[in-house]
Amino acid sequence: MRKKVTKAIFPVAGLGTRFLPATKAIPKEIMTLVDRPLIQYAIDEAREAGIKEFIFVTSRGKSALEDYFDHAPQLEQELRKKDKKDLMQVLKSTYMDSGAIAYIRQHRALGLGHAVHCARRLIANEPFAVILPDDVIDGEQGCLKQMVDAYEETGGCMVAAMEVPPEKASSYGVLDVADDMGSLVSVKGMVEKPKAEEAPSNLAVIGRYILTPSVLRNLSKQDAGAGGEIQLTDAIAKEIGGEQGVYGFRFRGQRYDCGSKSGFLQATVAFGLARDELRDDLMAYLDELAATRKAAE
Ligand code: G1P
Repeated sequence: MRKKVTKAIFPVAGLGTRFLPATKAIPKEIMTLVDRPLIQYAIDEAREAGIKEFIFVTSRGKSALEDYFDHAPQLEQELRKKDKKDLMQVLKSTYMDSGAIAYIRQHRALGLGHAVHCARRLIANEPFAVILPDDVIDGEQGCLKQMVDAYEETGGCMVAAMEVPPEKASSYGVLDVADDMGSLVSVKGMVEKPKAEEAPSNLAVIGRYILTPSVLRNLSKQDAGAGGEIQLTDAIAKEIGGEQGVYGFRFRGQRYDCGSKSGFLQATVAFGLARDELRDDLMAYLDELAATRKAAE
């Protein structure tokens, strides 16, 4: 039997400079889509996939993130007093089991690969997931759950993958496909942020990974790559041609790049429209906006 994936790393050390000035005072991962912080979406997706241990790789100024996952007795007392059962439910849905979360500091911003490497002692010798909370994926079934199911068949390393417009490929890790089996592809190469003319395809890596512990060993010896940073992509690429394969997984669902303002706004609208209590108002506003724009043309 394959060992189950029960640990996930959440690299959350980034400064979030694209969202200044907000990120002067709050971690990017606490910014909300409607009323839930970005990190909550990532945690919910991980839970659905069977993750039991949540490892946050943080940095200075991220204490709001730790507070967010703490229990809130005062708030609870207040809600109980006012008999706000629904809100109590909402509050409790954010609670985590005692001891389920660990925080590790990444002392220097040396790249995603380095951030993952910082968590190596908590992973030890088992397969693990990595979730980048900037990539919010909305689907009937969570992206990581889909991957865990596929991984039960394949083993090895697996990255979430999605076709992007060719001119955008240089913003991503890009896969060189050996065998395209539909939702699953086997990979013969991976390049982090390739120059447009050097991209092996337009199948991009999206921020969900299931990795073997050997990737952590590769990271110990990994030189800086694209952008002068230690890249996770490069350490995964070293597994290609090894005993276990490297796979790309085309997930079912809509991905929002919440690391960009435009992606964040799109996700806000989409998640707003998905809420029964908001849909009609929001839709009426969007219709009105579209009509006004059309009339002005
Ligand atoms: C990271 C990874 C990249 C991946 C991307 C997905 O890049 O290094 O391979 O394609 O996430 O969002 P970043 O966006 O952090 O520069």
